[in-house]
Amino acid sequence: MSMPLAFYICLTLFLSIFSGTDGYFDQRVTQCRYSSKDLHGIEFIDSYVFNQVEDIRFNSTVGKYVGYTEHGVKNAEAWNKGSELAQELGELERYCKPNAAIYYSNVLDKTVEPHVRLSSVTPPSGRHPAMLMCSAYDFYPKPIRVTWLRDGHEVKSDVTSTEELANGDWYYQIHSHLEYTPKSGEKISCMVEHISLTEPMMYHWDPSLPEAERNKIAIGASGLVLGTVLALAGLIYYKKKSSGVL
Ligand SMILES: *[C@@H]1O[C@H](CO)[C@@H](O)[C@H](O)[C@H]1NC(C)=O
Repeated sequence: MSMPLAFYICLTLFLSIFSGTDGYFDQRVTQCRYSSKDLHGIEFIDSYVFNQVEDIRFNSTVGKYVGYTEHGVKNAEAWNKGSELAQELGELERYCKPNAAIYYSNVLDKTVEPHVRLSSVTPPSGRHPAMLMCSAYDFYPKPIRVTWLRDGHEVKSDVTSTEELANGDWYYQIHSHLEYTPKSGEKISCMVEHISLTEPMMYHWDPSLPEAERNKIAIGASGLVLGTVLALAGLIYYKKKSSGVL
């Protein structure tokens, strides 16, 4: 399981000037781009964007401003000769490197374990009459491994899985399906491996009916017992009465 190490810390400064419903949008995006824990490949990027078009970018690897529009090329040339360049050249040491440890501990070292639910779902019309779904919710970071075991052995065929789906709130979810033909006495399990877990978690499928169904059956059975007892009591009472005992 590899950790996604590349991430960006962005600082965005906005300036928008509105005139009626139209407007201008001036944006400056400052990024420290980290790609390894030992700061190897670290980059400082400073972009100037006007109405969603990037005019100028300072890239610490390149070591100067580069213009992308006519206006940007002209300004980049001027800034490369001025005090702006000296300032930008120092940002990597001044800003990105000292903050790396803080960002690493706040972003990379965070892990949240998944909530897992195993359920029976309707299979697509196919080779097998049954299908199970193993869903892992709200985990972080993204890499995860969901596998199926049948009597302790990994099942590879008839397994389909979604990608790790981003919730949009930093957490992810994934759903793995196993199509199968039930055999009596077998044990089917879903195994989840994630960096937040010290050991793989196993979830065993209980093929008995879900609780709501069990309750319905229990209520029905109680009614049947009660009805039988009353009917018998009535019958005994009737018999005794008609034979003149009472
Ligand atoms: C910065 O410049 C280097 C060298 O040209 C390049 O490999 C890298 O992709 C650039 N980064 C960005 C974000 O533009």
